Amino acid sequence: MDRRELGAGTRVVRAARSLPPGGGQPLVPPLVQSVAFDYGSAAEQDAVFGGERSGYVYGRYGTPTTAALESAMAELDGVEAATCFVTGMAAIAAAVDACAISRGGRVVAQEDLYGQTRALFERWQRERAADIVFVDTTDHKAVEEALRAKPTTLLYAEAIANPLLRVNDVAALARLAKAHGASLALDATFATPVLFRPAALGATMVIHSLTKYVNGHGDVMGGSVGGSAELARAMRDRTILDGAYLPPHEAWLAIRGMRTLALRVRRQCETALIVALHLTKHPKVARVRYPGLEGHPQHEVATRQFGGLFGGVVSFVLRDDTKPAAFRFLDALELAASATTIGDLFTEVLYPPISSHRRLPAEERKRLGITDGFLRISVGIEDPNDILADIDRALDRV
Ligand SMILES: Cc1ncc(COP(=O)(O)O)c(C=O)c1O
Repeated sequence: MDRRELGAGTRVVRAARSLPPGGGQPLVPPLVQSVAFDYGSAAEQDAVFGGERSGYVYGRYGTPTTAALESAMAELDGVEAATCFVTGMAAIAAAVDACAISRGGRVVAQEDLYGQTRALFERWQRERAADIVFVDTTDHKAVEEALRAKPTTLLYAEAIANPLLRVNDVAALARLAKAHGASLALDATFATPVLFRPAALGATMVIHSLTKYVNGHGDVMGGSVGGSAELARAMRDRTILDGAYLPPHEAWLAIRGMRTLALRVRRQCETALIVALHLTKHPKVARVRYPGLEGHPQHEVATRQFGGLFGGVVSFVLRDDTKPAAFRFLDALELAASATTIGDLFTEVLYPPISSHRRLPAEERKRLGITDGFLRISVGIEDPNDILADIDRALDRV
């Protein structure tokens, strides 16, 4: 088409579609924001829609930039394919619903899951009569009994649980699941692909909130579900129909953040151990939970499973185990943010009873060990001495 024959309005619209000229392979995946893709022939477009040819058709079906992140996540997790969602919760909801709940499949789930995951599962129990039972997944007898009680589709757990930091023995859970004909879905957000690859230990589905360590800069939300090519097809069906696909700009930022994942996580693990050891000696602290401490109930599992790293999150309980004491601690922090997330560059402290575990009834929260003076620190990459000084200053005010 000769553009000089077109009207000014048409020329503007078409010009804005053109791509920059010039060759050379970019070192960074291009950010392709396009929602739709043009095909030279309808037959070709038909083949892509039909899945006979690879390609892109529309934003919810896949975009080149999100696909670059999906390939990276599949590679990091050592799985056939990964699918990215707008948040970690969207990834969890899509995966567990598609693989179990929507087919009437039973789920055995860890009792001390991230509070919102547990709240979602409890909502499915109430609203959809979903058959979900909660157990202590570090108690393998209890898991076995729950799996034996009824045919189960999915065993669901977190690698390092939020916020109690119980560590699951993934190989053992995978064996138990397999022996009872179930799949193992593992949320590996706190462990990250730097600590281990759950799929190599038998997990059939690996979930991450990309919002946390993978992006690591506190400016993107996202989630991923990794596993077999068949699982990826089921997840793609979810992004197309439910629409929670990760848009390209977020994917591009997550890829950029991910490049320093190993550096950040190793540093955060080192500092977290320093923080945990420091807290164990502090007179205002009653208990410290960190898988790197020898007294942690799953220290041996964590050492074997994570190759000497123990994660960047430390939880502790104030000796004054009350809400006012926890509030005084939070209000006195100067360096660390009092914020409800983990895995960022900066140190962040969370008080689960008012945030992540707010929906859990107080008695159940306390039964699990999330008492009124319970706090969780996500250790950042600041200088360890500055983090310790900030914590000590805040503890002085308690
Ligand atoms: C272990 C775990 N899984 C999943 C999520 C949900 O991720 P998102 O906030 O990206 O939806 C969180 C959020 O804190 C989490 O801690």
